[in-house]
Amino acid sequence: MDQVQQLRPHVLIFPFPAQGHVNSMLKLAELLCLAGINITFLVSNNIHNRLLRHTNVVSRFSKYPGFHLDHYPDAYDESKVHIAQEIMDLCTALQSVVKPFLKELLSKDPAHGTRKDRPPFSCIIVDGFLSLALDVAEEIGLPLICFRTISAGAFWTYFCIPRLVEAGELPFPGDEMNLPIENVKGMEGFLRRCDLPSFLRVGDLTNPDFNLLLKEALQTPRAKGLILNTFEDLEGCILSHFRTHCPNLYTIGPLHAHLRARLQLQEANSNNSNSNSLWEEDKSCIKWLDNQPPKSVLYVSFGSIAIITRETLLEFWHGIVNSGVRFLWVIRPNSVNVGLGDDVLDSTKSKSKSTPEMELEEATKERGCMVGWAPQEDVLAHPAIGGFLTHSGWNSTLESIAEGVPMICWPCFADQQPNSRFVGEIWKIGLDMKDTCDRVIVEKMVRDLMVERKDEFLHRADEMAKLARKSIEEGGSSFCNLVRLIDDIVKG
Ligand code: UDX
Repeated sequence: MDQVQQLRPHVLIFPFPAQGHVNSMLKLAELLCLAGINITFLVSNNIHNRLLRHTNVVSRFSKYPGFHLDHYPDAYDESKVHIAQEIMDLCTALQSVVKPFLKELLSKDPAHGTRKDRPPFSCIIVDGFLSLALDVAEEIGLPLICFRTISAGAFWTYFCIPRLVEAGELPFPGDEMNLPIENVKGMEGFLRRCDLPSFLRVGDLTNPDFNLLLKEALQTPRAKGLILNTFEDLEGCILSHFRTHCPNLYTIGPLHAHLRARLQLQEANSNNSNSNSLWEEDKSCIKWLDNQPPKSVLYVSFGSIAIITRETLLEFWHGIVNSGVRFLWVIRPNSVNVGLGDDVLDSTKSKSKSTPEMELEEATKERGCMVGWAPQEDVLAHPAIGGFLTHSGWNSTLESIAEGVPMICWPCFADQQPNSRFVGEIWKIGLDMKDTCDRVIVEKMVRDLMVERKDEFLHRADEMAKLARKSIEEGGSSFCNLVRLIDDIVKG
């Protein structure tokens, strides 16, 4: 590292160890590297190994002399994290392993020292789900900025929990999930109980997971600022309420598109992959897409954590096949809890299948393609894609919005419930299938999105994509907020 680089700020970026979090925070890391800032990106040993195995992260970042990928000892086997409970267990395990590690890393010398080849840390950007870093930063006297990888809308509902409890709206009195929720400011009139994050569906407020989540959310105003992967035209009505709690908001999304735009400015004609995948990407699906008509294919993926039952998989499969629409479906290995997912990917293992299942496989060969993990950003940008059946994870939602791809939402857990409500009811760029999974409904929604109301949905999704692009162009809200974030880091 040369002397000029040594004089530049050095930021420790510390994501929660899961695909959706590592992905968006690595995009932020690269945007800051482009501004000449030194970055140490800290992940678990396990995530570190998977990044090295499945991505070009080392060669991609080798052009930034100030970038370092560091790792801490594994606290938990993250590959086991599939359901809300395991996410909470991971959080608890991180407290005991990572907190001492972080303290040691940050306090090696009086200037918050680090390795000799890097300047001292000037700031920490931490996943807002890891408030343990706030304690360490305050103890050491380092500025800390939180980054929440979820939507402003979803995060705002967490902030409103005390108000919901005070008003008697939480825990839900009775079982009816379609009743309105009145005490989330900015969402009156459209939020229902079933649209609150799944973690809030508790019968008992002493539930430890509920309390961990609430505690993590309410710590955020202790940070110097809050970065959100969203843009003002998308969530402006919620952001104005948010600013009353966290006035220093940096809305800089959609991050993947923002990074792509900056890289294109710097490296005209660069076609390098920016993948941060923790699984091997099966790029053969892009060749398959190349042979499909424009806007004809439904992309189906439920993200990196959700698992589904064999029954659910069959309902989706029948519904999609019966719709007659072409489809590209990601079924992660081990994401179907009796192993059918693995068989689906390899029809040679299908000897014991029933006749209807064999018929499904035949139809799949005719107009479908199934892979274990896809290059999702490239898939959504492909001209053959006309719709996305998604679990409404926030990265997937933003990636779809940025490409103008309408969605059918089947939220599984956490922030996904409010995200799907916004897609269906506020932005009107898709359909919300919340809490139901029935082949007849799946078939109807797929036909609505991809055939009957195709033009209407494509038009609105295209309008939203234009707003997303405007936000990251020079002078746009996300562009200006990133400039402000960089300035604030440089000024210290
Ligand atoms: C989780 C939560 O569900 C999400 O709501 C939260 O915001 C972050 O943590 P995940 O369930 O994995 O994340 O969903 P999502 O946020 O959509 O992230 C998945 C990422 O994996 C996306 O960036 C997507 O592009 C990528 N992906 C997914 C692939 O690259 N290939 C695939 O085949 C599937």
